[in-house]
Amino acid sequence: MKLLHIDSSILGDQSVSRELTGAIVARWRASVPGLEVVTHDLARDPLPHLSGATLAGQDEIEASRGEAALREFLDADVIVIGAPMYNFSIPSSLKAWIDRIAVRGRTFRYTETGPEGLAGGKRVIVVASAGGVHAGQPTDFVEPYLRHMFAFLGVEAVEFIRADGIGLSPEHRAAAIERAHGALPEPLRRAA
Ligand SMILES: Cc1cc2nc3c(=O)[nH]c(=O)nc-3n(C[C@H](O)[C@H](O)[C@H](O)COP(=O)(O)O)c2cc1C
Repeated sequence: MKLLHIDSSILGDQSVSRELTGAIVARWRASVPGLEVVTHDLARDPLPHLSGATLAGQDEIEASRGEAALREFLDADVIVIGAPMYNFSIPSSLKAWIDRIAVRGRTFRYTETGPEGLAGGKRVIVVASAGGVHAGQPTDFVEPYLRHMFAFLGVEAVEFIRADGIGLSPEHRAAAIERAHGALPEPLRRAA
């Protein structure tokens, strides 16, 4: 089994989403023998924004980095993503990654009856951290967006672990982290 671990927080050791994605990956390693883990830290190793030159096939180096990111996604059975809320949505580094994995003919296609996702059979687990409390609110452009995006790509099993209210007080922060640790998904048990 292959697991792709994506982090995008710029807060390093202070990051809540990094702590939680790390805990999820550790859990998977402990219970899945032979698990292969690929880590892509988008804060340390960001992908460039898509450019016209890439789309036109004129920038080979950039295109090969995009292809490598797409291959990492396609090869993975499980994808664990750290998604901190930045300005009510996902970090631009995570959006730049999505721009590389949403590729017509590879992860989706258009048919006469509408779009069809081609990346089924994967499990996506997202840790969504936020300074305020946004889950289920109109101010949350993280979870609805990512749910829609992965459904568009054909991924049926998408789970969210929320850590909201991180910036409200040290007590809120500690309680949200503890709650999230208690809600980590079980390896090898598919989401309903
Ligand atoms: C650039 C930046 C933008 C942020 N924008 C928001 C925001 O719009 N809403 C919010 O509730 N928190 C916002 N925050 C707070 C983060 O969501 C919060 O610190 C969260 O814990 C970040 O996840 P992390 O700990 O994994 O880095 C922002 C933080 C940063 C650094």
